[in-house]
Amino acid sequence: MTLFEARGLTIRFGGNDAVNGVDLDVERGCVTGLIGPNGAGKTTIFNSITGLQDVSRGTLTLDGHDITHEKPRERARLGIARTFQQLEVFGSLSARDNILVAAEIRRRWAHDLGSNPRRDADAILDRVGLRAVADERADALPTGLARLCEVGRALAARPRLLLLDEPASGLNDRETEAFAELLHELTAEGLAIFLVEHDVGFVMEVCSRVHVLNYGALLAVGTPTEIRRNQSVLDAYLGTANDAAPVVWARPSSTDTRTPAHAARDLGPRPAPALELRAVHAAYHGIEVLRGVDLAVPRGGVVALFGPNGAGKSTTLKVASGQMVPTHGCVHMAGRHVNGVPGQALPRVGLCTIPEGRGVFPNLTVRENLTMASYTGVSRSAIEERTFSFFPRLGARRAQLAGTLSGGEQQMLALARALATEPAVLLLDELSIGLAPLVVEELYGMVAEIARDGVSILVVEQFARTVLGVADIVVVMTRGRVTASGPPAELESELASAYMGASL
Ligand SMILES: Nc1ncnc2c1ncn2[C@@H]1O[C@H](COP(=O)(O)OP(=O)(O)OP(=O)(O)O)[C@@H](O)[C@H]1O
Ligand SMILES: [Mg+2]
Repeated sequence: MTLFEARGLTIRFGGNDAVNGVDLDVERGCVTGLIGPNGAGKTTIFNSITGLQDVSRGTLTLDGHDITHEKPRERARLGIARTFQQLEVFGSLSARDNILVAAEIRRRWAHDLGSNPRRDADAILDRVGLRAVADERADALPTGLARLCEVGRALAARPRLLLLDEPASGLNDRETEAFAELLHELTAEGLAIFLVEHDVGFVMEVCSRVHVLNYGALLAVGTPTEIRRNQSVLDAYLGTANDAAPVVWARPSSTDTRTPAHAARDLGPRPAPALELRAVHAAYHGIEVLRGVDLAVPRGGVVALFGPNGAGKSTTLKVASGQMVPTHGCVHMAGRHVNGVPGQALPRVGLCTIPEGRGVFPNLTVRENLTMASYTGVSRSAIEERTFSFFPRLGARRAQLAGTLSGGEQQMLALARALATEPAVLLLDELSIGLAPLVVEELYGMVAEIARDGVSILVVEQFARTVLGVADIVVVMTRGRVTASGPPAELESELASAYMGASL
């Protein structure tokens, strides 16, 4: 039975229709999917359903009530809750308190004085699998878990319609499986879930029906099987990633006793690596998270760093970029010792990061964001020419404030800005988060090209499939240590177990 309906939904920004005449149907007790390329209008549709964005034309109906012009607060009371693509948790509060605040608010507005927010919050923590980290500050959680915290917060409002904007990005395979199970339980209780997600394997697994959006218009609606076979969907969105499923390498490990150091030596003689971490230890507030990491990025090479959440991947990038000083061990760039050089100075010696969560300046335009990169000495016109030829979408939006770009467009801008400084070493943290499958393929094609131009690249990813196609060396980390490294083809089983979290 249909709970939510949109008819002829149209949303205009200036002269452009971001969403154009779209019909949507979301059923009770089901997960309904909304997929489509970056900038297709998915988040804009969610904003219009929750009332954050005015509708230019069309109607929105919840359970037979016209809610097109209701205030956001009223829609929340009627049972609409959501999560945000760009995380919106209270960073300084614990995971438990984030959920508790929402439960308290609901208790007040629903005049449900008999409810017990504390008990509700605990039940939700168990349900979303956050009990073990309930007392940690939300901003200290890995992205994937912070997203679950947001889901928990939305559930505390006891919604009838739950909108999830890329909830699975940042989750590893095991967490994604648990999350699919959670969605299944929630829908079995009658909840209607509307899901935006770029992890196509996940969408196809959990959704009963999928809407595909392209340039603001509906391209197709159907079951996952119908959508997978739809040629225009393949062309516009899926590319060859159609059969993308969580990456699991089935082949069992040979009786391989290769050590990381030995594997690195197999690569043969070479000049000093572009970037090298030697026996690096690092700690947060005295708690050691890196316990002797050895890692080398050869000149013009692509090194992919994998591992479960909490393995220390992002910390490794922080040390490599100079944002964090190791407690022991050292960092070398092109043979030069660079320990303790503050992060700000490193771009000049050729290091750039794309932090997880993008890092564009939201109140500056696309052009102004790019201009920031020209302070490193590259001419502004050269930067713009290169950027807009790589990313035509950004060219068309050069005067738009970066904060109003779609999630994927912001990721493209962050990458363009990093590239604009013409770095010697490029550090990429979760490049594929928020990007459509076709774009991820294209970007990794570009990463390979950049490496051929002599740039050395260290990339951290959850989605392994595409990056494996371009990586020269794979490094697997578990619990703050490198547990394997070598060419991708030789490390299939190590990767599988790191992904499934089996070695945690
Ligand atoms: N306030 C705004 N002013 C102008 N354009 C906007 C504004 N908000 C969004 N847009 C544009 O509308 C289009 C749709 O954006 P939206 O965020 O809905 O895309 P999306 O489908 O969620 O993409 P992604 O997968 O990258 O998150 C984008 O091209 C975006 O740049
Ligand atoms: Mg979006």
